[in-house]
Amino acid sequence: MYYIGVDLGTSAVKLILMDKEGNVVKTVSREYPLYFPKPGWSEQNPSDWYENAVEGIKELTDGVDAAQVAGISFGGQMHGLVILDKDNEVIRPAILWNDGRTTKECDYLNNTIGKDKIAEYTANIAFAGFTAPKILWLRENEPENFKKISKIMLPKDYLAYKMTGVHCTDVSDASGMLLFDVKNRCWSKEMLDICGIDENCMAKVFESYECVGNLTKEAAQRMGLTENVKVIAGAGDNAAAAVGTGTVGDGKCNISLGTSGTIFISSDKFGVDDNNALHSFDHADGHFHLMGCMLSAASCNKWWMDEIIKTKEYSEEQKPVTDDMLGNNRVFFLPYLMGERSPHNNPAARATFTGMTMDTDRTDMTQAVLEGVAFAIRDSFEVAKSLGINVTETKICGGGAKSPLWRKMIANILNIKVSVPVTEEGPALGAAMLAAVGTGAYKNVEEAASHIVKIKETIEPDKEIAARYEKKYQQFKKIYPALKSVFDEFD
Ligand code: XUL
Repeated sequence: MYYIGVDLGTSAVKLILMDKEGNVVKTVSREYPLYFPKPGWSEQNPSDWYENAVEGIKELTDGVDAAQVAGISFGGQMHGLVILDKDNEVIRPAILWNDGRTTKECDYLNNTIGKDKIAEYTANIAFAGFTAPKILWLRENEPENFKKISKIMLPKDYLAYKMTGVHCTDVSDASGMLLFDVKNRCWSKEMLDICGIDENCMAKVFESYECVGNLTKEAAQRMGLTENVKVIAGAGDNAAAAVGTGTVGDGKCNISLGTSGTIFISSDKFGVDDNNALHSFDHADGHFHLMGCMLSAASCNKWWMDEIIKTKEYSEEQKPVTDDMLGNNRVFFLPYLMGERSPHNNPAARATFTGMTMDTDRTDMTQAVLEGVAFAIRDSFEVAKSLGINVTETKICGGGAKSPLWRKMIANILNIKVSVPVTEEGPALGAAMLAAVGTGAYKNVEEAASHIVKIKETIEPDKEIAARYEKKYQQFKKIYPALKSVFDEFD
């Protein structure tokens, strides 16, 4: 049998067809536009997601016996606000995870309602980009749209809804709405009240590996599949990526270098970072995780390469960075092109280069961009360490993880082993694995992971490089606090 994994990303939907053994038979990727209607805003059209997912599935299964497709599941960009009216039509473009318009609403939630209360209800505090502050923004700024709301959903859940007619979500993605009681895996009545939302507008909640329904006749016909195909709830893209890299069970770590950058630590037990710098969310394996999320990771390198130095030769640009240069760069880059989430929680933060001299060249700056992202991941890693979490090894995935140089930087800047899975499509593979579990091919997510996920390479930190980077990190750490008040004054 075959299983389809759909990774609903920010720049594209990536789809894989997987067999029971975890072999990836085919992959398809389709891009769609991302809109920045105002500085710091970020929106997409849900219809672009659905149309591209449907066309992608058609292409993926072309030539495959439709009766052999058992299930579809998803890993989706998290936190996005998708709202439907009473006729189930999308009311306005989705407001995405990297949208920074809700400073006022976050301030209201964290300071007027209070961080203690919000954390008691949800295990988290408000970050711009989370769903609840966006609902408050909508209530204040687009009251006519707010009044029309009949269903609230997350991006990947819009796909599941269109495919099955079931208004569903899963625990891992719901965790990022700030409307969800993560510890008890149910909606928080208190948070729904604070946002003025009736619980009827909220989706039915599933574990990530549970079946929400079968394809409707119409969806099956459009995709060239049968109505026997089961749709499995799926997960937020980070939890799906964690499944796809085998980051399940207790105390495992995954780093994702995608548009966003995340460090994800799985846990058997519910736990909260007292300062709430890390998110405390449910995991797709039935347990929990902590996560730090930076808003611009591989996207910093993409910006630097595509927009600034204008080249597509990513690996050529990285080639001149030799081992002796690691930990010796005088140039630093703060990677806050979209503001920053973890650990600073500041939409007003901005990117900056510093430390250049007359002899600084393009390679130093390319190196600084990659290092800046790795240093920022280390910031969240330090928070995890301060909680007594001892991580000595991580998996890595996402577009940025394809760069051997970036992987080496991560290993040495965090001073931990970095393992690269054979199959690089983290969230899409995790989604296909959830589809396999949900249709009964595996007993549970852990069994699927131990059967399917294989490691192709492990990068060990080098003592000397790690020591050099330690000094550089101590310098990097001082840049943001020194500039914070300057950023606060910028438009
Ligand atoms: C996680 C987050 C991002 C998006 C990217 O909290 O906001 O990683 O899920 O798609």
